[in-house]
Amino acid sequence: MKKVTVRTLKKYKDDHEKFSMLTAYDYSTAKYIDEAGVDVVLIGDSLAMTALGYDSTNSIGVEEMSIFTKAVARGVNHAMVVTDMPFMSYTIDISSALTNIGNMVKLGANAVKLEGCNDYTEKLIECTVNMGVPVMGHIGFTPQSQNVIGGHFIQGKTEDAANELLKQAKKLENAGAFSVVLEMVPEDVAKKITENINIPTISCGAGRYCDGFVMVCDDCFGKFGDFTPKFARKYGDMAELIRTCAKNYNNDVKSGKYPDESEIY
Ligand code: KIV
Repeated sequence: MKKVTVRTLKKYKDDHEKFSMLTAYDYSTAKYIDEAGVDVVLIGDSLAMTALGYDSTNSIGVEEMSIFTKAVARGVNHAMVVTDMPFMSYTIDISSALTNIGNMVKLGANAVKLEGCNDYTEKLIECTVNMGVPVMGHIGFTPQSQNVIGGHFIQGKTEDAANELLKQAKKLENAGAFSVVLEMVPEDVAKKITENINIPTISCGAGRYCDGFVMVCDDCFGKFGDFTPKFARKYGDMAELIRTCAKNYNNDVKSGKYPDESEIY
């Protein structure tokens, strides 16, 4: 299978073909996701909650994202590997942002994802692309700004807010972003954005008409149980599988059934 690049995703949009993106946080999960043919593997900062047990994405930094980026990149051959730049790693100044972004690429990322759209982000996207790193934008609900937003809310509900989102998507495209995640946006607004920009849109709770779709792997596999967003679809019950395996192992140890003759040296 050929490596997925920015050109592959653009072709999907131009050919009206959908593409998939899943998060991954470790080597073996990334390997299976890649083998399944998923187009983009995102080392999402959602790992702050799903893998590390924090209550928001703002608790982690470049150090943690670097470790998870290295692990995931080692497991992926075909998919595009995108790393989420964590809270405060790209907003202090352009110079430190470019250093942090460049380091993620050195560790194996093929692109980075940045939240928000303002004059600063636009400038940063231009500089990042000039440095040779593709940028995925992320607008609508942006979890790193949840304290300013005042919670987890659907964005773009009024006409003004919807127009503002369309403007932002166009600005990200003009700044050089190769795609944009739309999070918690009404379906009709996401559809309009998708029809009015030339780069792929990726739905994260933004309905059916985007070019690509993203889900947190722990939601997809039924592993993370603390909360599940409405737009997540559970394709398995890994939580139950883990509980069952651990329970059976525990019982076997305690009853003397593990290890048996075939499991000894
Ligand atoms: O952190 C994350 O996993 C994300 C996706 C859900 C888009 O940003």
